Amino acid sequence: MPPGMATTGKPGANKASEGSAQPAPATVLVIHGPNLNLLGQREPEIYGHTRLGDIDRSLKQLARELGLKVETFQSNSEGAIVDRIQRARGRARALVINPAAYTHTSVAIRDAITACDLATIEIHLSNVYRREPFRHHSTIADIVVGRIMGFGAEGYLMALRAAKRLIEAQHRAAGA
Ligand code: DQA
Repeated sequence: MPPGMATTGKPGANKASEGSAQPAPATVLVIHGPNLNLLGQREPEIYGHTRLGDIDRSLKQLARELGLKVETFQSNSEGAIVDRIQRARGRARALVINPAAYTHTSVAIRDAITACDLATIEIHLSNVYRREPFRHHSTIADIVVGRIMGFGAEGYLMALRAAKRLIEAQHRAAGA
C-alpha cells in the first residue's frame, strides 16, 4: 500500500484529495513547547543558532521529499499544546514533540498524547542527561515510541525520518 493510504478508519485520516486518485500524504504534527520560539537567540551555546522558522522550513522541505505533510505548532502555554494535540486526533498519523520545560512536569500533555493514541517521538535539542538532574525526568518517556536528543536542530529531521518509518510500519501492520 503506498504511503499515506488510510489504514485506521479514523474520521478524516488521509482522505484522498478531491478529484485525485492519489491518497493525501500522511500528516505528521510537530509541536514545539515553551521558549522554543526564541531558538537562535536563547542560550545558543546549549540550543544552537538555528531559529525555529528555519527548523520548520527544513521540516517542510524534508516532508515533501518523504511524501509527508508536516504541520508545525509552537506555544508557551500547556493548555494550548493539549488543545493542539486533541485537534490532531484521528487526523495526524504521528506526533513529533519537544515539550521543552513541560517535558519535566506535564501530566496534561502526557494524558493528551495517550488519549489521542498518537505514535509519538520525543525530541530535545540538548542531551538532557548531560544537564541538571531535574531535566532527567520526562513525563512522556514511557509512552513515546522513541526519543531523540543531543543533536540540535538536526534531531528534528531525524525525528521526521523516524516518523516516516513508523507510518510505513502502520501500513504493514494493517496488512498492506
Ligand atoms: C529542551 C530541554 C528542556 O530541559 C528545556 O526546558 C527546553 C529545551 C531541549 O530541547 O533540549 O526548553 O527540551
